[in-house]
Amino acid sequence: MNNDASPTFPAFPAAFEWGCATAAFQIEGGALEGGKHPSIWDDFCAQPGRIKDASDGLVACDHFHRYPEDIALMAELGFRHYRFSIAWTRVVREDGSANPEGLDFYRRLLDELERRGITPNATLFHWDLPAHLQRTHGGWLGRETAHRFADYAALVARELGDRLPRVATLNEPWCSAFLGHDLGVFAPGVQDRPSSLLAAHHLMLAHGLGVQAWRAVRGDTRLGIVLNPELCDPATEAPADVAAARMAELERNDVFLDPLFGREWPAEMIEQIGAFADQRLPGDLAICAQPLDFIGLNYYTRSIAQAPDREDERRRGYRFVPPDPQRRAVTDIGWEVYPEGLERVTRKLLAQWPLPPIWSTENGAADNTPVVDGACDDPLRLGYLRSHLAQLSGMVAAGLDIRGYYVWSLLDNFEWAQGYSQRFGVVHVDYATQCRTPKASARWLQQLMSSSRA
Ligand code: FCB
Repeated sequence: MNNDASPTFPAFPAAFEWGCATAAFQIEGGALEGGKHPSIWDDFCAQPGRIKDASDGLVACDHFHRYPEDIALMAELGFRHYRFSIAWTRVVREDGSANPEGLDFYRRLLDELERRGITPNATLFHWDLPAHLQRTHGGWLGRETAHRFADYAALVARELGDRLPRVATLNEPWCSAFLGHDLGVFAPGVQDRPSSLLAAHHLMLAHGLGVQAWRAVRGDTRLGIVLNPELCDPATEAPADVAAARMAELERNDVFLDPLFGREWPAEMIEQIGAFADQRLPGDLAICAQPLDFIGLNYYTRSIAQAPDREDERRRGYRFVPPDPQRRAVTDIGWEVYPEGLERVTRKLLAQWPLPPIWSTENGAADNTPVVDGACDDPLRLGYLRSHLAQLSGMVAAGLDIRGYYVWSLLDNFEWAQGYSQRFGVVHVDYATQCRTPKASARWLQQLMSSSRA
């Protein structure tokens, strides 16, 4: 593998922002410290059979204690921007009051970032919903949760807002809604199609209420949301497959982007929400459609859709066909490597919705290469990053308004239902010793970032 970073693609503008991304539940650990209470992911991990390696987030990368070391590493590698999430369960007590100890952790983290010249980019909700809101209000199936999110947003705005120039409300609400309430493979593990659409509605309502609540406290923060829109190609040209791919894209993209721009959902999605349709109240759409300063787009792969077969697939209107590893490279988690999709999906969105400036807020690959003799040579990830950054640089050169790139992830971490079995970090973590080892891909990125800033 050629590790030379001299770009074989158009140079990025000098002002392009380079960063790395993480999420609280995936790295922090310190789960029982400083008055933190459990999230739905703690509860989910405690249920047998939910997590592939039966692991949990109690310790994770122990970032709660090791954040100074991790931020020093970030700085050494040349990242100048850091996207992280705040754990709702750490900063707000169950009674809704502020938890000073939890807030203090983020203040220390922000101090450290500032000291190293790294700009913070915070996400308020990266799936770790307080467990008590699940118990008392049904989590995202309850409208009250959206109001609680707005209270949480206002609290963070008051307590930490002066230190946070850019804030995203939600990360990938599709995952919370559909992986959590339709497929049931993510917390809270519900399997009910209409519920997933109701959850999606309440998540977007929470976004809108959260933006309103934040802006009522501070007007100077750039606010946005992070989505994971997907390109769903039909398996064949057959009309039934083409229709299935469209249904998959409606669920994945339109359900989230339409409300952001005050547009009603497509009729097919209203039909799928069924009896819950009356829980979408008049006026909700206007709340969802708050002006956005930016949008974060996460991109990993595309999907291939086919006409549904089983009963649950018919309810959804599509089924996904797994990629064929004989035809196209897949990463260790089984996701197709499809860099062209980054441009195709972005252009598709731009044609359909008036997007604000874009940040590429997550992109990366599962490559489980181990450390050998103190080094981790991760050719799969390196090739993945090279091809996706080549694609991105072409898009920027062609004039698409994309202002920055955050690699997922800084560290190997708790990959949700996959536990610790999938490694997405550019820095290897030995979970037994918590030893960090930058991989070849991190060194390659380091060179690319420094030459692009030169
Ligand atoms: C995204 C999530 C992130 C991580 C990557 C691999 O969907 O936002 O937390 O798990 O996938």
